[in-house]
Amino acid sequence: MSLSIRDLRVEVEGREILRGLSLDVPAGEVHAVMGPNGSGKSTLSHVLMGRPGYVVTGGSVNLDGVELLGRPTWERAQAGLFLAMQYPIEVPGVSIVATLREAFAARGVELSDSELAARLDTEADEIGFDRRFADRAMNVDLSGGERKRNETMQLAVLRPRYAVLDELDSGLDVDALRLVSARIARAVVEWGMGVLAITHYQRLFTELAPTRVHVLAGGTIVDEGGPELAEELERSGYAAYAAAAAPPTAVSVRRAGAVPGSSGIDDLLGL
Ligand SMILES: Nc1ncnc2c1ncn2[C@@H]1O[C@H](COP(=O)(O)OP(=O)(O)OP(=O)(O)O)[C@@H](O)[C@H]1O
Ligand SMILES: [Mg+2]
Repeated sequence: MSLSIRDLRVEVEGREILRGLSLDVPAGEVHAVMGPNGSGKSTLSHVLMGRPGYVVTGGSVNLDGVELLGRPTWERAQAGLFLAMQYPIEVPGVSIVATLREAFAARGVELSDSELAARLDTEADEIGFDRRFADRAMNVDLSGGERKRNETMQLAVLRPRYAVLDELDSGLDVDALRLVSARIARAVVEWGMGVLAITHYQRLFTELAPTRVHVLAGGTIVDEGGPELAEELERSGYAAYAAAAAPPTAVSVRRAGAVPGSSGIDDLLGL
């Protein structure tokens, strides 16, 4: 049981951003991905979830035996994948509670309004998210930190098998960071959730101990190690990987067999 990424190659506007990236996140483990700005971390998170606009030119992404590439975003979510976005978007006119209700319906899970409300109450309370926001439009007028708490609350209510967290720690105050990372850590134990945690700082790992730390530079994994690697990176930066992380090359000719970015919720949102 794992989220298994094999030799993933991705281009954006003719530039190769991911250059043969391989990474395994077994169920029940926390894998951190750290790397310099622009190295392709968010690109990875978007491609995993099927955001349009990326051209996948090679590789595979397998979730517990299900190939995700080429599937629309909702099918990937149905298969058990969840993305907490680096910059959660506003969705005017669609409330958080309606989103969650539809997500359960799409999975074929019968959940009454009162059961959903009870789960929401519990999870919102746990991480200090104002429960009243759940009846309002998704992320509209929410602060940066409130949006990150919202992502976490949705995760906790939906209970995905694997979660990709793209800088979940950014924008959270110290108290929220502790609550949010503790909630994620508990999910790993409670239902064996696998976590791919993208971050720049090891502060996320105070409560959420990573099994492995992977360094992403120049679109590929250039190093990996235990939690001590995160400390070392914070001390020394990424200079040691400069040679390994040659700038992404321009790609003039599309390789045969390219899988165009599949349509997903972003299409619906006009992104
Ligand atoms: N839609 C796009 N159009 C053009 N370029 C893009 C697009 N998406 C990503 N890129 C480029 O791909 C590279 C990787 O971006 P990405 O957002 O994945 O970096 P990152 O590792 O998440 O950085 P950060 O640490 O700053 O969040 C950058 O050079 C970025 O400008
Ligand atoms: Mg990013």
